[in-house]
Amino acid sequence: MPESGVRPRGTLLLIHAFPLNARMFDAQLALAGLGWRVIAPHLRGFGGGTGDAPATSVDDYAGDVIDLLDTLHIDEAVVGGVSMGGYIAFAIVRHAPRYFQALILSDTKSQADTPEGIEGRKKMLQLVDEKGAPGVAEDMIPKLLGETTRRTRPAVVDEVRSLILANSADAIAGAVRAMMTRPDSALLLPTIHCPTLILVGEEDGITPPALAEEMQRGIAGAQLAVFPSAGHLPNLETPDAFNATLAQFLSHRV
Ligand code: MLT
Repeated sequence: MPESGVRPRGTLLLIHAFPLNARMFDAQLALAGLGWRVIAPHLRGFGGGTGDAPATSVDDYAGDVIDLLDTLHIDEAVVGGVSMGGYIAFAIVRHAPRYFQALILSDTKSQADTPEGIEGRKKMLQLVDEKGAPGVAEDMIPKLLGETTRRTRPAVVDEVRSLILANSADAIAGAVRAMMTRPDSALLLPTIHCPTLILVGEEDGITPPALAEEMQRGIAGAQLAVFPSAGHLPNLETPDAFNATLAQFLSHRV
């Protein structure tokens, strides 16, 4: 669990995407320089973790994050999630809204899986079973990264591959099951009253900008930022622009 910070102004807790792990936020640890305590946990089983049984629902992950906040005696935090991390942030909003000083939703959506989406998840479970993390990496990298990154940023492509390969097949399968059973969160949007920042890569094909705009319309006062030349993972693809937007939000809205 990367963690750093000096004389914290508050806590920024970041929840990672599928099928990555907490190291995807290495570039965001720089926000500790602005006085934020930055915490990015590996979700259950990810990042080489062993021990707990794989998750079967987004509520399992949400419970783990809440336990972590309680263990660290953190009553309130800016909670951010990328994609699956956003689905988990919604689960925390559902169960324990009191923890939110602010909310950051990057490249995610409020809707549950469609029937076609669930069929895709079943295929993914089969792929994990047959080919493990390497098969998942081959399948997901072209979807996770924008066209610009795939063409011009080979180091980012390599980094994302190594983040995926660090995870066990069991952890990845658990996350697929959690995502395919998650409830719809659209009705949750009007209940969110904390400062909210919505971020999306312009080239995101998994959760395109139109879905980010939909969330912005649903959450009163939410701010939206779109990152050109980034796909589904702008915090890794265009980290300077991503961090600058986050820094501005943290300074002016929280
Ligand atoms: C993610 O990036 O966390 C996943 O691709 C989201 C999803 O598959 O719904």
